[in-house]
Amino acid sequence: MKEVTVRILENKPIAAGIYKMTFALPEKVGGISCGKFVNISVGDGAHLLRRPIAVCEHCESSVTICYQLKGEGTRLMSGKKAGDTLSCVLPLGNGFSLRGEDKRVALVGGGVGVFPMYSVLKEYEGTGKEFFSYIGFRNKAAVCYAEEFAALSEKAEIVTDDGSFGKKENAVGAFFEDLANAKPDVILSCGPTPMLRALKAGLAERGINIPCYVSLEERMGCGIGACLVCVCKKSGKTENARVCKDGPVFEIGEVEL
Ligand SMILES: Cc1cc2nc3c(=O)[nH]c(=O)nc-3n(C[C@H](O)[C@H](O)[C@H](O)COP(=O)(O)OP(=O)(O)OC[C@H]3O[C@@H](n4cnc5c(N)ncnc54)[C@H](O)[C@@H]3O)c2cc1C
Ligand code: FES
Repeated sequence: MKEVTVRILENKPIAAGIYKMTFALPEKVGGISCGKFVNISVGDGAHLLRRPIAVCEHCESSVTICYQLKGEGTRLMSGKKAGDTLSCVLPLGNGFSLRGEDKRVALVGGGVGVFPMYSVLKEYEGTGKEFFSYIGFRNKAAVCYAEEFAALSEKAEIVTDDGSFGKKENAVGAFFEDLANAKPDVILSCGPTPMLRALKAGLAERGINIPCYVSLEERMGCGIGACLVCVCKKSGKTENARVCKDGPVFEIGEVEL
């Protein structure tokens, strides 16, 4: 983990209310991988807390993130231009990792949760793993990365809540409809908590025991495990887990959703 000043290479809208930002790293930063996140200072003294955003794509010299305009912090980010600088702490969190025996992988992503799912596809591109992607957006205007998912997946199903693009369905529903075809060895998921809850309930109802890992989104303070703002409850235990440091990726049975 390092704090670095990065230079923005590109920052542009890619769908309704969604921006894609690529920034250059000033030096080699080790350990950046799928499912980890970046904590970004929006560069305004009035906004002291950094904003956590998942890594979407990365190479040795740059990182790409995609973010939804939500409040003041992301609005300030959207005003940044190529050449501007930002302070970032990265990489943070544990991220997703696949075992050698995970040959068939289901990716279930909703809303801004689709971007960490894409980081998994990129990370394991060319490794022989087969990906089955179920990606949900609110509506057609919010759809992005559809071609990118299609290019790297055996099957990519893009669905929308209102049916204006693909089926009228959510990512979890699309996944369960196709489960017999996908036959995944492992399931990875990221999206709003109600979506992850529906995934957990659906697996339990069907008695499915396939390993499943979910990336949680919690409000964060420090992002490095010190402030306890981001804690979530561990299932059946009194102790808590810190989403920023122990996660954001957890085995689905490990945490209360
Ligand atoms: C590990 C992780 C990865 C994330 N990855 C992405 C991503 O790839 N793309 C994306 O668009 N969003 C992502 N988010 C959510 C993103 O951090 C918030 O949308 C963003 O911080 C909102 O900031 P704001 O100032 O615009 O909104 P405001 O509502 O003004 O924020 C006020 C405060 O609440 C926090 N906050 C608000 N909403 C959230 C939220 N949903 N999760 C965590 N903190 C929040 C902010 O960080 C800030 O401290 C991620 C969150 C986490 C925890
Ligand atoms: S954000 Fe401070 S402990 Fe997680």
